[in-house]
Amino acid sequence: MNRTIELVKTIYEIKQLENFDEAQIALAGRSNVGKSSLVNRLAGRKKLAKISSKPGKTRSLNYYKVNPDGYFLVDLPGYGYAKCSKTERAKWAKLIEAYMTSNPQLKAVAVLLDSRLTPQKIDMELTSYLKSLGIPVIPVLTKADKPKQRELAKLQSQWKDILQQKNNPLLFSSKTGKGEDNLWDVLGEYAKL
Ligand code: GTP
Ligand code: MG
Repeated sequence: MNRTIELVKTIYEIKQLENFDEAQIALAGRSNVGKSSLVNRLAGRKKLAKISSKPGKTRSLNYYKVNPDGYFLVDLPGYGYAKCSKTERAKWAKLIEAYMTSNPQLKAVAVLLDSRLTPQKIDMELTSYLKSLGIPVIPVLTKADKPKQRELAKLQSQWKDILQQKNNPLLFSSKTGKGEDNLWDVLGEYAKL
């Protein structure tokens, strides 16, 4: 399918949040895990979402409309960024919480996990939080061009156990396009719910 992705709204503060009629799937994960790169890969455009080798690039909620499907992908600012001040971190948490708890159109959160790292506590905290809110988690192992296949398989089975899901987490690489078709299929299924 010939899809297009365009940025339609950027939000920095809770008071800017609004309800949309369209289904939404958010992209969450640690700073630098590859959220914005994933948006660019799906869009087939290198510079749609700003990316950086330094963590903490995305500071806002960015709503990308996927057409012709009609749902939003929402790129969230990353967490776990060490250089971030306490005040900033608290602001992040409040904004994300407000977004996630008052949003019936949020169909799922794709939680991006760095495939080069063993399961991290901070990621498990997010997945538990989402579970407590009843929001489905779509685990995606990013940068899957880096580890060996055997390592990826091990990590997939670890996350599958942690999340108690019946399917393996998706593998994704913005660099090679690995997993792109699979991800589109899964996003489409959740957006329809
Ligand atoms: P924040 O906006 O800070 O939360 O980060 P982000 O999650 O949006 O990460 P971003 O997309 O900016 O990517 C961070 C770094 O990882 C950049 O240097 C990217 O080039 C690199 N990167 C992203 N995806 C991949 C991938 O699939 N493979 C490889 N090898 N590098 C990647
Ligand atoms: Mg980003």
